[in-house]
Amino acid sequence: MKNKISNIKVCAFDAYGTCFDINSAAKLIKNKIGKSWLEFSHTWRTTQLEYTWLRSLMRNHKDFWQVTKSSLDYAMKKHAIKTKYRNELLQLYKKLEVYPDLKNTLEYLQNKKIKCCILSNGTPKLLRQLTKNAKIGNLFDSLISIEEVKIYKPDPKVYNLVTKKYTCKPKQVCFLSSNSWDIVGSRSFGFQSVWVNRLNNNFDNLDFKPKKTIRDLKELTNLL
Ligand code: LAC
Repeated sequence: MKNKISNIKVCAFDAYGTCFDINSAAKLIKNKIGKSWLEFSHTWRTTQLEYTWLRSLMRNHKDFWQVTKSSLDYAMKKHAIKTKYRNELLQLYKKLEVYPDLKNTLEYLQNKKIKCCILSNGTPKLLRQLTKNAKIGNLFDSLISIEEVKIYKPDPKVYNLVTKKYTCKPKQVCFLSSNSWDIVGSRSFGFQSVWVNRLNNNFDNLDFKPKKTIRDLKELTNLL
């Protein structure tokens, strides 16, 4: 069918923002944080990503939990959030809410005999905690962490972890991410990437475009 993506062996999912709601930690204690909770959460996320890119460029790797803590401290200071909430926010970050559209899609793919994995900056421990908490651990064939190569997305070594693990070509991988830059990086590597544009954002202007764009993971079932 014209609209379908064909010859896919593996679906690789980005974790943060694609499977799990990164704003849910701050949202759950928004009464304590105050009305700038979402702005604070955005600063936390953008700083966290910037630190991953900077550390990769500096060749000075620290794992995603360390980066999450340093970026949280930066964001708390910037938005004058009381330090007594630090630990609570970190504990909530280990149990981010799962998007409700994920589980049925994973079951659909499992029925179609398409392997599913996570490919994430998160440490193996964080990925285990998140999937266990969301009770979806059994629906993923593997949880692949960039800790295997100790460099962050969008380094091609990261995307190569999937093709190596599943002994397949990049074009046999359907990669799902809500991060436009992650779609660019994975398209540059050769994946058939689908952008999960939950918030009706603009796509980056960086040579590569997504193979398809969907609004939520439920829509993936129309493509595979
Ligand atoms: C991840 C971040 C980039 O899960 O969302 O890798």
